[in-house]
Amino acid sequence: MSLLSPAPTVQLTEAQVRFYHDNGYLVVRGLTTVEEVEWLREVYDELFDSRTGRERGDQFDLAGADEEGETAKLPQILNPSGYRPELKHTLAWANARQVMTALWGQEPASQGDHAILKPAGYGAPTPWHQDEAYWDPTLDYCSLSIWMPLQDVDERSGCLHFVPGSHLQEVLPHRPIGGDSRVHGLELDCSPPELARAVSCPLAAGDCTVHHQRTLHYAPPNESDVPRRAWILMGGLEAKPLAESRDFPWQAQRHTARSERARAAEAGA
Ligand code: NI
Repeated sequence: MSLLSPAPTVQLTEAQVRFYHDNGYLVVRGLTTVEEVEWLREVYDELFDSRTGRERGDQFDLAGADEEGETAKLPQILNPSGYRPELKHTLAWANARQVMTALWGQEPASQGDHAILKPAGYGAPTPWHQDEAYWDPTLDYCSLSIWMPLQDVDERSGCLHFVPGSHLQEVLPHRPIGGDSRVHGLELDCSPPELARAVSCPLAAGDCTVHHQRTLHYAPPNESDVPRRAWILMGGLEAKPLAESRDFPWQAQRHTARSERARAAEAGA
C-alpha cells in the first residue's frame, strides 16, 4: 500500500448533513472499497493475533476483567494506526475526514481510531452508552465516531443501534459494565424510555455509521459464525474547557488491569 493518501470519494448530500444534525447518527455507504476492506481485514487480524499494544494498555478486554490468561470477551485496540501508520493513508481514513468536514463545515482538529472485535458466536451485547461518558468531564466536545465493519453486519452479528435525537441531551449516569470495577467498558446506569425508539443499522462491509459523542448506542451479541470486526475512526474539533463544572463519578469507580499496564509502561518509558 502506498503512503500517498488517496483522494476522498464520498460526498454527503445536504439531506444527509441535516439528518445527522437532527438525529445524531447517519448511515454512509461505501466509505471504502471491497479491495481495501480485504487488506484491512489482514492488518486487523494481525494486530489482534499478535496482541499488539497489550503491554501499553492499548489492547484489552472491553467487557471483562482482562486478567492474564483469560479469553477476552470483547477485545479492543486503542490507536491501531499508531502501530500501523499505513492505516492513515487508506481511502477509509480520507473519506472519514471528508465526512467530518462536511458535517461540521470545517476540518477536524484531530483524528484517531480504535478497533473492536466481537468474536463469532459470542453471547454478550455491548451495552447502551454514550461515548462522552469515557472522556474528560471538564471539556466541551464536538466529536463523532465513524464505525465501519470489515464484513457485512446485521442484528444477528452485532450491528449498531441508535436512539434518534439522543445526542441533544446531557451525558446520562453510567457505571462499569455489570457494576464490576475491574471492567473498562461503561454502560448506562438508568433505563430511559427512549431506548424503545432505537433503530438498527445493518451495513455491508465498507459502509459505515456516523454517530455524535452523546448519541445513545448499543450493539447486540454476535450470534453469527463470523467474527464481527469493526474499525472506528474518530475525529473532533478542538475541545475547550467547559464553563460549568460537571462530574463523571463512574470513571473513578474503575480499577482495571488495562490502566495498571498503561501506568507501568509509562513509568518504564
Ligand atoms: Ni461507543
